[in-house]
Amino acid sequence: MSRKRVAVLISGRGSNMAALIEAARAADYPAEIVLVISNIPGAGGLATAEANGIAAVTVDQKPFGRDREAFERAVQAHLVEHRIDIVCLAGFMRILTPWLVGQWEWRMINIHPSLLPAYKGLDTHARAIADGVTKHGATVHFVTAELDAGDVILQGEVDVVPGDTPETLAARVLKVEHEIYPQALRMIATEYKLI
Ligand code: GRF
Repeated sequence: MSRKRVAVLISGRGSNMAALIEAARAADYPAEIVLVISNIPGAGGLATAEANGIAAVTVDQKPFGRDREAFERAVQAHLVEHRIDIVCLAGFMRILTPWLVGQWEWRMINIHPSLLPAYKGLDTHARAIADGVTKHGATVHFVTAELDAGDVILQGEVDVVPGDTPETLAARVLKVEHEIYPQALRMIATEYKLI
């Protein structure tokens, strides 16, 4: 079995990244995490990646200013250098241009903390509570040029319970995220045929 080479793009603590690294330890897992890229220097997840012996790179977005494509070309150079097959966005707080998305069609996936198509964008937990919904959750989906709109791969649901705050709900959803992201990557890495 040739394992797919995966890069995880992060901006923060990287708990979903850690869940992917953990899952990929299994001998029968069809992917290996070989690269972690952060757009934020010092992001917590970088240290976790390094502690796991994974190449951890910072591509600081600041020097690129508003030139989003120049930033993405710097990211792409690392992805190419590491011969990446699949890119996982995991708390990567940056909207990508159609250019980078186009390089990774059907090979770039994201985790979003809502049951898409509900609650695209930010502050999903607060908005779900404000609306009084009883079900909430997380979605792994393919990345397309339109924000949080690509085909859904897998969803996980949680109950919204009386007294929930955005924090308590986020914690319940995060547990589900850590289950469904490794499952979704397994599906994609198994299905995806190298061209
Ligand atoms: C997660 O809730 C993810 O769904 C969202 O950002 C958060 C990242 O958390 N896109 P972590 O960095 O994986 O811990």
